[in-house]
Amino acid sequence: MSKTILISNRLPVTIKKEGDKPVFQESIGGLATGLKSYQQKSGALWIGWSGVAEESLSEKEQQAIDETLQSDYSCVPVTLTKKDIDDYYYGFSNKTIWPLFHYFINKVHYNARTWEAYEEVNTKFFKVADRLMDDRDTVWIHDYQLMLLPQMIRDKYPNAKIGFFLHIPFPSYELFRTLIWREEILRGMLGADLIGFHTYDYVRHFFSTCTRLLGTSRKIHTVKYEDRQIHVGAFPMGIDYNFFTQHITDAPTEESFKKMASEKTILSIDRLDYTKGIPEKIRSFKRLLVKYPQYRGKVRFNLIVAPSREKVASYEELKQQISELVSSVNGMFGTVDWMPIWFYFQSFSQEELISFYRYSDVLLVTPLRDGMNLVAKEYTAARTDLQGMIVISETAGAASELGEGVIVNPNDYAAVAEGIRTALEMPTDEKKARNKMMQERLKRYNVHFWVNTFLGRLEQLTQIKNAAV
Ligand code: G6P
Repeated sequence: MSKTILISNRLPVTIKKEGDKPVFQESIGGLATGLKSYQQKSGALWIGWSGVAEESLSEKEQQAIDETLQSDYSCVPVTLTKKDIDDYYYGFSNKTIWPLFHYFINKVHYNARTWEAYEEVNTKFFKVADRLMDDRDTVWIHDYQLMLLPQMIRDKYPNAKIGFFLHIPFPSYELFRTLIWREEILRGMLGADLIGFHTYDYVRHFFSTCTRLLGTSRKIHTVKYEDRQIHVGAFPMGIDYNFFTQHITDAPTEESFKKMASEKTILSIDRLDYTKGIPEKIRSFKRLLVKYPQYRGKVRFNLIVAPSREKVASYEELKQQISELVSSVNGMFGTVDWMPIWFYFQSFSQEELISFYRYSDVLLVTPLRDGMNLVAKEYTAARTDLQGMIVISETAGAASELGEGVIVNPNDYAAVAEGIRTALEMPTDEKKARNKMMQERLKRYNVHFWVNTFLGRLEQLTQIKNAAV
């Protein structure tokens, strides 16, 4: 029987060593949270890195972890050494591809050693897949850490159904062309039968990049590459709508949330990342307090930042910068009984996040660049009373589906401050009408719709291909 295998750099659970003991934690980020619900339902096998270096575990620990991952999570780990993690994960993936694809060209590092590590680790992923798959299987590869893998699998399994989905933006050709290993990356992706992006803009960029760099020809939805047709499309990822609309009454902190709701609350939730525009949103909030002093003492800003990639210098610097900015705003405006910004540098469970969502008047989601941003969708769904309002960047992929929110340019602090005010002051009826439209869309185009459309299309394409042979 044929099976479906998911492959991504990070598994839905991450192993952390606390003291001597390895502990299992939910992974953060859109990819893991979004795909997890599909995997739980389908029981599909998931191949990925467990988040811990080979050297930090004894053979016995490694074996125990592998067994738990397999039996409790249907996951198969790819083992990475400290060097792999430094060069492939922190290096090429997060110091070259990540900044480039998010338009942070000044942060891009080029290093032949990290590129080699990227090739080697993609090969390690291939070897694990090779152990588990056969030519009839469907393989769905995810994200920028594994862009060489589709072609590696294609070479050995010409008839496998191979899908690739990029969870981050695909930049315009003018940016992409600056990458030293641009052709290798494109050819790697083109090993797939179907390539998916979150928005049509990313699709356009991909098509024009293939034409200009590889001279490929294009039909409406396909690239002709060597003797194959590769289908390319926009598949905006949805959320597990029912999970976010369910009422969680046993959240331990529910009472504290109720107390907090006596003030107007603004919420923001991001991974620590320079793409998320965190310093910029603090400055915008400061603008609000300067321009509209009536909000002083009345509005509380809950700023949640989940620790991420702290070994990359620019992330560590960002953490410092955020702490300093928060202190400066609190120092400037705080009073004996009011603190403007509550800064949480930690990850919360999804249940706790739902409580934050339910008790927040405004969600401020203003990344400078973001492939999608599922937090915006989760918040809008979780406010089942239709009383919240999002302020969202035009440069977040999610903005194209949440047009009834307050849309802003995240670089324009004055405009974001106005956006926050608009959202705080929006009449109830208007909020209800806008949220209703967004909720209907989120409900219909949920994560199951996303998975079914992508995998359905992949299945259809391969049937057509096989019929033609
Ligand atoms: C983004 C990426 C994911 C990644 C996540 C968390 O959502 O698209 O591939 O897993 O961030 O980042 P991390 O580096 O911790 O895996």
